[in-house]
Amino acid sequence: MKGIILAGGNGSRLHPVTKVTSKQLLPIYNKPMIYYPLETLLKAGIKEILIIVAPEHAGDFVKLLGSGKEFGARFFYEVQDKPDGLAQAFLIGESFIEEENVAMILGDNLFEDDFNEEVKHFSGGARIFVKEVPDAERFGVAELGPNNKVLSLEEKPVQPKSDLAVTGFYLYDSTVVRKAKALRPSVRGELEITDLHNLYLQEGQLGAEIVRGAWFDTGTFEAMFAATQFIRDKNL
Ligand code: DAU
Repeated sequence: MKGIILAGGNGSRLHPVTKVTSKQLLPIYNKPMIYYPLETLLKAGIKEILIIVAPEHAGDFVKLLGSGKEFGARFFYEVQDKPDGLAQAFLIGESFIEEENVAMILGDNLFEDDFNEEVKHFSGGARIFVKEVPDAERFGVAELGPNNKVLSLEEKPVQPKSDLAVTGFYLYDSTVVRKAKALRPSVRGELEITDLHNLYLQEGQLGAEIVRGAWFDTGTFEAMFAATQFIRDKNL
């Protein structure tokens, strides 16, 4: 399994802090934000990792993370010119993915869980990881039936069908590149990860699992604060 960390975007929700640096380089307690998703991939046994960054601060990511040797891994870098959507990662990453399975994690997502078993036993299709939240309308939302069967998926619905947010960690087989190529930009002009997942769902190839431990999308000051407190208290 290969890995992708998507760490581009313009961090506009964190202005003025992100006018001079990238969101994923900001600290969560005592480490840059990107260390947490990176550690999630490394703990899951993923050793070849493509880091997708925005052009403005690309050099800072290389300076921080380097070749990967220090982490016992190999890092590759690509630039996303514009934040045209999460699913664009698979077009940018096409030559990196080749014919392999791939895990993607968002550079601002912080998980307590260890995904080692899920990665080891992944056998094809795609898998999403969902978490109960009080404000599902801010996220991709999954409606699950018996045995966690995915019934529907919606991106930031006004009236969510459940309180299960789709978190920013995903597993895919290598058909992800072909599927991403078939996507068209949404009304907000982005290649949507939810549209990609709906293609897997239509083929009966989308699985879901519940995230047991804590999960933070650290894309707001409030969430950064909560995540910082969590890491400090847990001594992680
Ligand atoms: O955190 C989980 C949520 O992430 C999911 O529930 C949603 O389904 C998914 O769309 C996404 O929602 P967000 O509102 O958090 O997406 P955002 O635009 O903030 O992008 C998430 C991260 O990905 C952020 O750190 C910036 C980065 N990004 C985003 C876009 C659109 C890129 O690197 N490139 C992009 O083109």
